[in-house]
Amino acid sequence: MKSLGIHPWLFPQPVYMIGTYNDDDTVNQMMMAWGGIVDYKMVALNIAADHQTCANLRRRKAFTLAVPGVDTLEASDYFGMVSGRNVPDKFERTGLHVVKSDKVDAPIVSEYPVTLECVLVEEQQQPYGLRFLGEIVDVKADERVLDGQGKIDAEKLHAFVFDVFKNGYYEVGGMCGNAWKSGGKFK
Ligand SMILES: Cc1cc2nc3c(=O)[nH]c(=O)nc-3n(C[C@H](O)[C@H](O)[C@H](O)COP(=O)(O)O)c2cc1C
Repeated sequence: MKSLGIHPWLFPQPVYMIGTYNDDDTVNQMMMAWGGIVDYKMVALNIAADHQTCANLRRRKAFTLAVPGVDTLEASDYFGMVSGRNVPDKFERTGLHVVKSDKVDAPIVSEYPVTLECVLVEEQQQPYGLRFLGEIVDVKADERVLDGQGKIDAEKLHAFVFDVFKNGYYEVGGMCGNAWKSGGKFK
């Protein structure tokens, strides 16, 4: 094995979209790879202090966390490229659509197939980074990604993951096993 030094190199890294309202009630979205589920009802957002999203989180105490599909890859990447601090019409430029969450003070992008609605419960300022913890109060899913039993069908999401090595995005492929089952033969 070759030593490559210290890097935040794991694959795959998730691609999630944090949705918040700006001060004037316009919509902001930012892309986040460093975060996700940390408990049954909890998510963590590891974000840089200068992002517009931080200011929005502190003010509105709520956010959404969505899974984008490849059909919105370009707009979603754009949300990771420019800051709402410098581009006030950041969201509008993409032509995506939005509705207000009925549970929290945050926007839901209609084109994103799955969205967690969260209330902000804690801000952690640590020597190794700034982290916001949110509690999930509901999950919204587009009917088109549900199976016959009303469960989310991961294959219908056409989700994509982030490749930190070469800054690539990769569409998530087909199912290759069953959790808590595929390893059963070694029991
Ligand atoms: C693939 C990708 C992953 C990213 N992950 C994060 C992240 O985990 N934390 C973070 O603070 N910024 C991350 N960013 C950068 C922010 O999305 C970007 O700085 C954005 O402009 C912030 O928007 P805002 O200032 O409007 O909140 C990521 C960007 C990309 C393209």
